[in-house]
Amino acid sequence: MSTMLESRGLALVVAACLVCGPALAAENSGGYGLGSTPTAAEMERYFSPLPDGRGLPPGSGTVEQGKVLYDEQCAACHGQNLEGGAGDKLIGGRGSLVNNDPKKAPVKTVESYWPYATTLFDYIKRAMPFNTPDSLTNDQVYAVSAYILARANIIPAGSVVDAKSLAQVRMPNRDGFIPDRRPEKFPPVAASKAP
Ligand code: HEC
Repeated sequence: MSTMLESRGLALVVAACLVCGPALAAENSGGYGLGSTPTAAEMERYFSPLPDGRGLPPGSGTVEQGKVLYDEQCAACHGQNLEGGAGDKLIGGRGSLVNNDPKKAPVKTVESYWPYATTLFDYIKRAMPFNTPDSLTNDQVYAVSAYILARANIIPAGSVVDAKSLAQVRMPNRDGFIPDRRPEKFPPVAASKAP
């Protein structure tokens, strides 16, 4: 009796699959039938500029505009002079990451550590202000990036920053990163195997 019920159940499942199979296949023909194609506006919010500036949006901002914004929206956490507080210290410490003086602690900041200025735009746009991330316009992000770079003496105080000029900024620690040379991690490619 139970065997009969079980086999009848199986038959029903098989029949159901035969009916729904082709319909599902048609619906899934472009993939898994999930989600929807993102709109241009949605794609614009999902971006990650590369170090060389590709992917940075249009817009621009001056150091002066950045100062106004910084004082209003960043200084409470990062300090009036970018010296840090609830948020990180943003400037200073240049050269402190590599030294032979055991008493000299490394001071890691945007100025002393970050190899590319384009990261400033990306990070601030996505993550800052800490309490209201993603609330700044592109112009505002360019402006406040300009202000931080000027306070770090990396660009002149009169600068205007946009996608092109931000990518051209040379950060002080640009050459401070070296490839991992441990042979056990990255064995040299044997000459005979090289293409
Ligand atoms: C409510 C406090 C707060 C406010 C306001 C705030 N920040 Fe931050 N910020 C932080 C904290 C906390 C971190 C560290 C976050 C982490 O490491 O995950 C941080 C990290 C950063 C960093 C990365 C520093 C580093 O060396 O890694 C930058 C750049 C930055 N903030 C810029 C800004 C700017 C520009 C504004 C204003 C538009 C702003 N922040 C407003 C709290 C704040």
